[in-house]
Amino acid sequence: MNLIVAVDTDWGIGYKGDLLARVREDLRNFAKVTSGKIVVYGTNTLATFPGGKVLKNRINIILNPSPDFKVEGAIVANSLDDLFKKLESYNKEDIFVIGGASVYNQLLPYCTKAYVTKFDKSFDKDTYIPNLDESDDWICVYESEEFRTNPETDTGGDFSFKFTIYEKTGKTK
Ligand SMILES: NC(=O)c1ccc[n+]([C@@H]2O[C@H](COP(=O)([O-])OP(=O)(O)OC[C@H]3O[C@@H](n4cnc5c(N)ncnc54)[C@H](OP(=O)(O)O)[C@@H]3O)[C@@H](O)[C@H]2O)c1
Repeated sequence: MNLIVAVDTDWGIGYKGDLLARVREDLRNFAKVTSGKIVVYGTNTLATFPGGKVLKNRINIILNPSPDFKVEGAIVANSLDDLFKKLESYNKEDIFVIGGASVYNQLLPYCTKAYVTKFDKSFDKDTYIPNLDESDDWICVYESEEFRTNPETDTGGDFSFKFTIYEKTGKTK
């Protein structure tokens, strides 16, 4: 199972229910990495998508505790056990955990690869994922060149960012 996330310099990922910044190059990278794959996320993250609609060209699996919760075009899982049953028929390498904080934190122990966009800025934030640089279980295996935001297409101000990939070295659940 993989994880894909954008973090600030403190591994913050969100503020008041929204993303820290919308950066076109990052959203393009997200689409490239996850297209044709299975994406797993929580209900609050669904609310951050344009029009609150599921992502196209991907199998969407949404975590929500209510058995009555239904979303057009998505599979709903009501618990982690239910999620793992629903994931059984897919290749683990094709599954991407895409947020938010509660879902990342529950599924990180099951992930073996993490695609992390690093924003070189400290934002106001209220949600985080664990800092993989401080974990003995993870190692950074790829770091891109630095890119810079474009004020015409991006929100969050002027800052640089890079794409990284981490792999798990330790035991996976
Ligand atoms: N930087 C990034 O790359 C990135 C990506 C995605 C999201 N985000 C940010 O993350 C924040 C949202 O995170 P969040 O933690 O508030 O919300 P979330 O994880 O997107 O969704 C939480 C919802 O999912 C349900 N859920 C979670 N685990 C469940 C489980 N095991 N079984 C059943 N239901 C489950 C929760 O149910 P309960 O109510 O029962 O707990 C809750 O309704 C936003 O600020 C968003 O912008 C950032």
